[in-house]
Amino acid sequence: MSKVTVVGAGAVGATCAQVMAIREVADEIVLLDIKEGLSEGKMLDMFQASATMDFKTKLVGVTNDYKKSANSDVVIITSGIPRKPGMTREELIGTNANIVKSVVESVIKYSPKAIFLIVSNPMDTMTYLTLKATGLPKNRIIGMGGALDSSRFRCYLSKASGANIHDIEGMVIGGHGDTTMIPLVTKATIKGVPVTQFLSKKKLEQVAADTMVGGATLTGLLGTSAWYAPGAASSSVVESILKDQKRMIPCSCYLEGEYGQNDICIGVPAIIGKKGIEKIVKIDLTKEESEKFEASAAAVRKVNNILHEIKAI
Ligand code: LAC
Repeated sequence: MSKVTVVGAGAVGATCAQVMAIREVADEIVLLDIKEGLSEGKMLDMFQASATMDFKTKLVGVTNDYKKSANSDVVIITSGIPRKPGMTREELIGTNANIVKSVVESVIKYSPKAIFLIVSNPMDTMTYLTLKATGLPKNRIIGMGGALDSSRFRCYLSKASGANIHDIEGMVIGGHGDTTMIPLVTKATIKGVPVTQFLSKKKLEQVAADTMVGGATLTGLLGTSAWYAPGAASSSVVESILKDQKRMIPCSCYLEGEYGQNDICIGVPAIIGKKGIEKIVKIDLTKEESEKFEASAAAVRKVNNILHEIKAI
């Protein structure tokens, strides 16, 4: 029996729960929120779709009752406020740090063996905060940003080239921020053939730029942050854990020397399986990519430092 709890029944949390239910990623999904009745309502609505959609996942909605999340294998943290148009993810830290800290401390009491997947923004810093607040081994704390940014990268590569999105591979590493993420253009392929053979330098620069503001474009259109792609990306990480798929997914991982960085959670390619982060994959970066990674880490570290200033860690 596998059990997943999603904390936060906003658009991202509920979509993640729905995608996991439809794909039968877990046997039981608990959705938890502080707002009275919200999780119960969303899970009942999803349950009412289960006959039509033909899925068997047990769905439980609860208001702030962490006992119901007990013994979860994976806990997804989506709590906190989303960004508004014009806001950066980093600006959310003041509000979200305290929320995320108190949530993870409640979760760990009932699910001491859980693997945490962090979605709340600023995602790399919230992942770092979770690691520090829980003291859990680093393989059990995963930030989902790279999974989402990479799916956006593949989407824009498909749009620019006209190729089928399923033939496109590509990764985004670095921080999950509009200016900190690094789409690895030199490593992206269409059916194994480098994208540089299909798209001009100028077009690829545009793809990278579109990817980096993929989330901001949506806050502009929707008035709040996105949920379909973030929910789906989160579900894909959980699926790799629970089905021990050992997919290579760029995720925010705690680094101890890898990529020349220490004491930071930031996006790097990782093998995700039943133990969580089973391996950080070291790939060769170009000089330009390495420099960007260093700058990205410095920017993430600057936001992490705020955690000390506000005494969250
Ligand atoms: C985004 C938010 C979820 O990128 O970080 O859409």
